[in-house]
Amino acid sequence: MTVTPTQQPSAAPAIPERTALRRHYLMCRPEHFAVTYAINPWMDPSAGASAELAVAQWEELRSTYLALGHEVSLIDPLPGMPDMVFAANGALVVGGRAYGARFTFEERAAEGPAYSDWLRANGFPDVRDPEHTNEGEGDFLTMDRLILAGTGFRTDLAAHQEAQEFLGRPVVTLRLVDPRFYHLDTALFPLDGENVAYFPGAFSPGSRAVLERLFPDAVIATEEDAAVLGLNAVSDGRNVVVNAEATGLVKTLAEHGFEPVPVDLAELRKAGGGPKCCTLELRSN
Ligand code: ARG
Repeated sequence: MTVTPTQQPSAAPAIPERTALRRHYLMCRPEHFAVTYAINPWMDPSAGASAELAVAQWEELRSTYLALGHEVSLIDPLPGMPDMVFAANGALVVGGRAYGARFTFEERAAEGPAYSDWLRANGFPDVRDPEHTNEGEGDFLTMDRLILAGTGFRTDLAAHQEAQEFLGRPVVTLRLVDPRFYHLDTALFPLDGENVAYFPGAFSPGSRAVLERLFPDAVIATEEDAAVLGLNAVSDGRNVVVNAEATGLVKTLAEHGFEPVPVDLAELRKAGGGPKCCTLELRSN
């Protein structure tokens, strides 16, 4: 008996239905925004940055979250703290507990206690004052089963250990190697609790191999998209708030069944930040 091989029609892989989960975010209006010092390669104090324009763009971001059904709390900006708009750096809040930030540079040091005080006064009494240098959600990104943690420019390796012990969640270290992508949240973002999008060139060879093993189905971003801080995005599992200039990524996300929500935060990019930097997620579980 001969078996004739039949040509299988090449079925397009089914795109899963994406589900949004309602989030609670903490944000800080950039009333005192400026670029007065340079602590990352995006910052040029001579280039001129407008607090007024930053506030207008930031207001759009806040309205976007509200329109998507999320809750947004606000912390008062401190005069003389031009980077305080980058709320992601203020802490890591998981399971109702907060691991406080301890900034790398003196210029931002006062933000750590300011965010911790806000959390204690607003329903998160269990705040850990950190022993080790860490810049909160800038370098810690929470997934369902683990926390991804960046090191190399800002957050100390020892802080990964400290966060794991305090939060009781497995922390996976990833080493950043490109100074443009000095925080983990400039190179990678969780699409949902299980999968991520990232730019491989931002990571050491070993960390790239770890990412390939953990996330074989990850969305891989190009250098062009990473270079406009496209990976500094915020996903609720379905809607992805992303810098509008990351046009390739916007298209790829849509092809994967996500709903890209482009925003313009070009003024904040002069300080090296995008949507995610402006957003600290307050996770009660
Ligand atoms: N100018 C700030 C700094 O260098 C930008 C922080 C951006 N935040 C972030 N989560 N990546 O610290």
